[in-house]
Amino acid sequence: MKIGLFYGTTSAATQEVASLIQDNMPDCEIEIFDVYEEDLGKMSEFDRIIVGCPTWDIGLLQEDWRSKFGDLDSIDFSGKKIAYFGCGDQSIYSSSFLDALGILEEKISEKGGTTIGHWSTEGYGYDFSKAEKEGQFVGLAIDNDNQPELTEERVVAWCEKISEEFK
Ligand SMILES: Cc1cc2nc3c(=O)[nH]c(=O)nc-3n(C[C@H](O)[C@H](O)[C@H](O)COP(=O)(O)O)c2cc1C
Repeated sequence: MKIGLFYGTTSAATQEVASLIQDNMPDCEIEIFDVYEEDLGKMSEFDRIIVGCPTWDIGLLQEDWRSKFGDLDSIDFSGKKIAYFGCGDQSIYSSSFLDALGILEEKISEKGGTTIGHWSTEGYGYDFSKAEKEGQFVGLAIDNDNQPELTEERVVAWCEKISEEFK
């Protein structure tokens, strides 16, 4: 199964999670792209996509995603399955926890993408998140700032889930 993983990162947490995802899906051919250096048009080449974005500057997309966000408008995501993951801090940024994930999911869904890989909000404590829709997160929620000990087990469980849902 061929998958394109597109991530942005400022302090490397999201990049590390991207590698962990790749390690945990050995049966899939995952190509990883840092949006800092890759044109988002590349997403058109994949029917299965993983999007990774941390939230920065109180509720905003990470800066590389921010500068290319408008490019998503010219991509047709219909027929494509998209899984999302994001890094954030539920303690200090409790009112904008993982907002970037929700912002990207909304835009890509408007452009026809089908979201897979929803994730339970159980085990997290925050006031508000744009990534929470209908009682669950639109994708995998990672908080390396407060719960680094849970990251690996969350990634492992999520990879099992999306491996099925991508089929
Ligand atoms: C100035 C600043 C603003 C941040 N704003 C948010 C935020 O609004 N929501 C959130 O969930 N995390 C926020 N964070 C936490 C980062 O998303 C978190 O540290 C993440 O792991 C960074 O990922 P990266 O290393 O891939 O860039 C912020 C961190 C900093 C330093």
